[in-house]
Amino acid sequence: MAALAAGLQAAGGLRARRYVSPLISAMLLLLLLCLQPSESRTDPETRTWSQTGPRLQLPYSDLRNGSALHWRGGVSGGYQVLLLDEDRGWLLVGGKDHVYLLSPDNLDRPAHKIHWPAAREHVELCRLAGKSLERDCANFVRVLQPFNKTHVYACGTGAFHPQCTYLQLGHNPEEPLLKLSHTVESGRGKCPFSPREPFAVRLTDGELYAGTSVDFMGANAAIFRTSVQGSSQHYIRTEAYDHNWLNEPDFVGSFSIPDTHSPDDDKVYFFFKEKAVEAGQWDKTVYSRVARVCKNDVGGKRSLINRWTTFLKARLVCSVPGPSGVDTHFDELEDIFVLETKDPQNPTIYGVFRTSSSIFQGSAVCVYSMASIRAAFNGPFAHKEGPDYRWVEYKGRVPYPRPGTEFPVRSESKHVRKV
Ligand SMILES: *[C@@H]1O[C@H](CO)[C@@H](O)[C@H](O)[C@H]1NC(C)=O
Ligand SMILES: *[C@@H]1O[C@H](CO)[C@@H](O)[C@H](O)[C@H]1NC(C)=O
Repeated sequence: MAALAAGLQAAGGLRARRYVSPLISAMLLLLLLCLQPSESRTDPETRTWSQTGPRLQLPYSDLRNGSALHWRGGVSGGYQVLLLDEDRGWLLVGGKDHVYLLSPDNLDRPAHKIHWPAAREHVELCRLAGKSLERDCANFVRVLQPFNKTHVYACGTGAFHPQCTYLQLGHNPEEPLLKLSHTVESGRGKCPFSPREPFAVRLTDGELYAGTSVDFMGANAAIFRTSVQGSSQHYIRTEAYDHNWLNEPDFVGSFSIPDTHSPDDDKVYFFFKEKAVEAGQWDKTVYSRVARVCKNDVGGKRSLINRWTTFLKARLVCSVPGPSGVDTHFDELEDIFVLETKDPQNPTIYGVFRTSSSIFQGSAVCVYSMASIRAAFNGPFAHKEGPDYRWVEYKGRVPYPRPGTEFPVRSESKHVRKV
């Protein structure tokens, strides 16, 4: 029996993968072809979208030369991460060996900065390993996540030796305070070794979910959960070096989204692209994915200890039908944005995609509802009979409880708009 189906039965769906091309549908698709501006069509389908349309519109020229603010106060560049607190009026910026505290309303005000370098021995080891002192062997701050009312959790690459700590912030915007805690924790499974590796992270309920690699070479990538509070070293991850779980992923974003009113049903979603295992061994096709784990997952038993039991993934399809009946696919996810709505269970998901074709270059924005994403996770599983078979829908008995345990959600209609 194929690894996938075997995994399904043995491990409650650990290796299950959803096959969803028509199931997750792009609900609204804005297609930018060769930068040719054209009139938007006003067919009835697009009008139903007017209420969820853009909140703010500004011409590209204004964006370029009018609306941008410039801050030149940093000392070493390498800015990778921003954390904005609109209520308290501060903006944290993570850079190379530094964290800055700015006032977003007035960037001319002096910034507070703290110096947070990598340990000297790690800089030396990094250099001896052939990395660049300038571009690699420093502490590039890549994680700034709210922890509690007074502290932010921060991680940096630590010259290819990731490290994490807490930053203390004051309450009073008039008298900003920014202090580094003395506690330094290992950043393995929380932050990449490399300043350039694509990466996604979310801290929620005292646990850090990260899509990152955990080795110097950046080869052992996984979705991790590590406990931030306390000294526990406990973690859960996806299986290492198993391409059915993750196949050279480039992580783009991660979000915690509740499923119901019960916190027990909360899920964490990861958006990424990876080599498509279903496209064949020699095919370099890349697909975009959404993966999901349950927050209350405690990991498997025996050989599956420290492995997710609720991990599922589905393909994110962003395509437009072409005139000759051939769809144009935008397979490579570049960025993701979760727009909060009044209903915390149903934010709207915006993805920026591009084509991987060398002949046709284009970008698209696809919008997904949580209902369509949940419907995909609730749909059929993909399955492969053996190494020489194709991926097909799994028609066998689905084990109980259903992998990634779910309950039915209604599906949505599909709206496509070309610009
Ligand atoms: C912005 O740029 C556009 C074209 O590049 C120009 O026509 C316009 O006057 C500029 N606006 C401002 C405020 O500089
Ligand atoms: C926030 O977390 C820090 C670090 O664990 C701790 O020292 C501090 O007391 C916490 N603050 C609150 C308000 O819980």
